Amino acid sequence: MKDTKKSVHGAWSSRFAFILAATGSAVGLGNIWKFPYITGENGGGAFVIVYLLCVLLIGVPIMIAETMLGRRTQRNPIETMELLTEEAGADKNWHYLGWMGIIAGMLILSYYSVIAGWSSAYILKAFTGSFFNADAAEIKGIFDDFIASPVQLVFWHSAFMLATMMIVVRGVNNGLEKAVQYLMPSLFVLMFLLVGYAMTTDSYYQGLHFMFTPDFSKLTSSAILTAMGHAFFTLSLGMGAIMVYGSYLPKNISIAKTTFLIAGADTVVALLAGIAIFPIVFANNLHPDSGPGLIFETLPIAFGAMTGGWLMGILFFVMLAIAALTSSISLIEPAVAWLVENKDFSREKACVWTGLATWLLGLGTVFSFNVWSNVKFFDRSIFQLLDYLTANLMLPVGGFCIAIFAGWIMKRQHSEQELNMPTEQSYQVWKVLISYVAPSAVFFVFLHVIGVL
Ligand code: PHE
Repeated sequence: MKDTKKSVHGAWSSRFAFILAATGSAVGLGNIWKFPYITGENGGGAFVIVYLLCVLLIGVPIMIAETMLGRRTQRNPIETMELLTEEAGADKNWHYLGWMGIIAGMLILSYYSVIAGWSSAYILKAFTGSFFNADAAEIKGIFDDFIASPVQLVFWHSAFMLATMMIVVRGVNNGLEKAVQYLMPSLFVLMFLLVGYAMTTDSYYQGLHFMFTPDFSKLTSSAILTAMGHAFFTLSLGMGAIMVYGSYLPKNISIAKTTFLIAGADTVVALLAGIAIFPIVFANNLHPDSGPGLIFETLPIAFGAMTGGWLMGILFFVMLAIAALTSSISLIEPAVAWLVENKDFSREKACVWTGLATWLLGLGTVFSFNVWSNVKFFDRSIFQLLDYLTANLMLPVGGFCIAIFAGWIMKRQHSEQELNMPTEQSYQVWKVLISYVAPSAVFFVFLHVIGVL
C-alpha cells in the first residue's frame, strides 16, 4: 500500500518549478477577469486597499502555512490533515477540512471553466477580425449575443474542461512547468503593452484615480467580504490547491521566500489588468460596474483600435486561456490526487469522473447567463451563487481553519523545522500573523457581514 502511494506522487524538479506551478495556479482569471470587475462593482480605490491588506496580512501567512502542511506529509489534503492531526495528537475531525477543499475546488472549476471557455471563444473572435474598428456598442453586442447562446457556451466550456483533464491525466508536473515558464513573462509583456494603450486614451488618469483614490464611503460590508474572499481566490488558498502543490515541493526549499515571489507576481498582474481596463471603461463611457463581462466589453475596443491590435487580441486571449488552464488544473488536482492515492483509482479513471461531474455542474453556470437567467436563489443567479459560496465563504473558512491548525494545533517545533526560516524573528512574525492576525481578521469580517459588528 505504502509503495503504490509513493509511486503515484510526483515531485517538482526544482524550486523554480514549484514557483512556476504555484504562480500558474495563482495567476488566472481571478487576476485579469475577476479583479477588475469586482473592483468596478465595489467602487474602486477603497476596495483595492482592503484587498491589498488582505493579501499581505491574511493571504501571505496562510499561503506559507498551506504550503508547509502539504510539504510536511507529501500527501493529498485529506490525508495531509489526517497525518498531521495524528502527529499533533489532535481531534480527527480536521480531515473534513480536506474534504471541504476538494468540494470547493470542483465547485469553482465548474464556473471557472465556463469563463475560461469565453476566453477561448474570444481567441477565435479576435482571429476573425470581429473587433476591427468596432465601437463600444458593437463590442458589447458581440458579447451579449455570445453569452445568449447556450450552445456556444456549452461547446467552449466542454472544450476547456477536456483540455484541463488532458493535462491533469498526465500529472501536474509533466509539461506544466514548461507551459508556465513561457506564459508568465509573455503575460507580463502583454499587460504592459495594454497599459501602454490605456495611457494613450484621455481617461488614463481617471482610471488610475478610480483604482487608487479611496472613497471609504463606498466600502460596504459586502465589499469588504468580497475583497477578503478575493485575496483567497486569487492566491488559490483555502481549498488545498497550494497544499497539493506544496506536497510536491522538495524538502530543502525555503517556503517563505517562494511565497513572497508568488504573491507579488499575482498582485502585479491584477493591478496591471485594472490599470489597463479602467481607462478604456471611462474613455468609452462604459460603466465600471458592468459585471463579469467587463474585460470582454472593454479590451476588444483597444484591440480593434490600436495598430497591431489584431495580433495582440489573439495573443491576449490565448494567454488568458492558458493562464486559466494552469489554474484549473490546480482546482481539480486535490480531488484527483485523493482518488488516486486513497481510493486506488487509476489517474485516467479519476480524471474522467471528476471531470464529468464538474462539467455537468458547469452547465448550471452556462444556463444562468441565458435560459435560466431568471432562476435566482437568495437573489443570485446560479453563477453568482457558486461564486459567493466558494470565494466568499468556503475559501475564507478553509483558510481560517488552516491558520488555526498551523498556529495552534501543530506543534511549534514542527512548524519551525518545516519552515526553516532564515531568522528567529521572521518565524515569530509569521507565527503571530498566522495565530492571531489572520484568523481574527477573517472572523471579524464574517461578524461584520452578518451584522454583529
Ligand atoms: N487563483 C486562481 C485565479 O486567480 C483561481 C483559483 C482559486 C485556483 C482557488 C485554485 C484554487 O484565477
